[in-house]
Amino acid sequence: MFNTIIEPFRIKVIEQIKMTTAEERHGMIKDAGYNIFALRSEDVIIDLLTDSGTGAMSANQWGGIMRGDESYAGSPSYFHFRDSVNDITGFEHIIPTHQGRAAERILFSVMCKEGDIVPNNSHFDTTRANVEFRGAIALDLPSLELADMDSDFPFKGDMDVARLLETFAEYGAERIPLVMMTVTNNSGGGQPVSMANVREVAGVCRENGTPLYLDACRITENAYLIKQREPGYADKTVRAIVREMCDLAEGCTMSAKKDAIVNMGGFLATRDAALAQEEKVLLILTEGFPTYGGLSGRDLEALAIGMQEAVDEDYLHYRIASTHYVGQHLRDAGVPLLWPTGGHAIYLDAERIAPHLAPTQYPGVAVANAMYELGGVRACEIGSLMFGSHNPATGEETAGPRELVRLAIPRRTYTQSHMDYVIEVVVKAFEERDSLPGYRIVEQAPFLRHFSAKLEPLAQRG
Ligand SMILES: Cc1ncc(COP(=O)(O)O)c(C=O)c1O
Repeated sequence: MFNTIIEPFRIKVIEQIKMTTAEERHGMIKDAGYNIFALRSEDVIIDLLTDSGTGAMSANQWGGIMRGDESYAGSPSYFHFRDSVNDITGFEHIIPTHQGRAAERILFSVMCKEGDIVPNNSHFDTTRANVEFRGAIALDLPSLELADMDSDFPFKGDMDVARLLETFAEYGAERIPLVMMTVTNNSGGGQPVSMANVREVAGVCRENGTPLYLDACRITENAYLIKQREPGYADKTVRAIVREMCDLAEGCTMSAKKDAIVNMGGFLATRDAALAQEEKVLLILTEGFPTYGGLSGRDLEALAIGMQEAVDEDYLHYRIASTHYVGQHLRDAGVPLLWPTGGHAIYLDAERIAPHLAPTQYPGVAVANAMYELGGVRACEIGSLMFGSHNPATGEETAGPRELVRLAIPRRTYTQSHMDYVIEVVVKAFEERDSLPGYRIVEQAPFLRHFSAKLEPLAQRG
């Protein structure tokens, strides 16, 4: 009946945003070596660098923090956490970790050996790194539809099942200790995965006697998108859809910093008691005793409550509608982006925004830096700075596969008017696209260079 998207919560505590001028930001980004990672967050007006750990906790979660019990062993906060995660996922053995990547390290240490293959729709970078650290091969099998940025295909996060079958045929089930599915598919543009696809993949896994694991960071957002987009799910609850997806899997890893809306936390879950036992041995080695893992009692309480809030459909409706609202307005203004929008982020296509810049002139950096200079909005380049490479012998720069800029939207943190402001800033950067300068790298690390590289513009903007 009404079009305005309202936040289904009131604001109880506020955090002041320091307002800055374009002139000040011009100096700040220069001092940061034109790398948004080197900015101080207090110099950012709207921070869309990540949706991980940046959400706002509820009054209930803060109340839980006060109730957190810090006993070393057998804390009631652990049992609250375990029961809440079990209630949502149905997995029996639940191991707390300090964040998602710790769960990944334990999972792959126990399940993989050198030379193994781990297929995924798309591995997130820490997932890939943990598979590779074990000497195994992380294989991405994204859907073919993901290559088309403009189509309306609703589930571009799906796995390519034909390629999964080929992978089993080529390597044999002995070399594939598990298959993973990342829901939603963060490295695949934050796109959702359909239930039909999870079911098909689970079928292939069952035939081969291979366990299917979910990377479940954004499973409730994925479930809401299934409810909206997949035939037969409109009348099911998100809670039921999440459970149906988990029922198709043997376990999951989860960075609770995403859908469970905590600032720190994660877990590893499985149905296999013997495996859980092995995993707990590794947990004790680096994370902590099995009833707290890498977390304090208060973190466990916040996570337990956040898991339940994550399936609240009023919240999810607002969350997905708000992301879509930003995407739709940018699209209407002609800004090229990955369509349809997923749950947690908008991915701008910098290659088409700034076609005058070669990939090795970092169009994604050009767009992200213009957004910062113009309006103090911080977004993240996912392009040739992040995924390209440098040959120190020849000085040659190699481009990455795509030139994207990700606007990740923290949960419950910004209001609708903040989103309107973001739209205005992106549209302004788009209007100035012909004058955006390219960049060159003046200093870079041999690994993960995007975090610390220093750059300089090839010309001045405008
Ligand atoms: C899909 C996915 N998997 C795993 C992780 C790793 O989680 P964490 O940052 O908590 O270690 C992330 C974090 O961004 C993610 O998006």
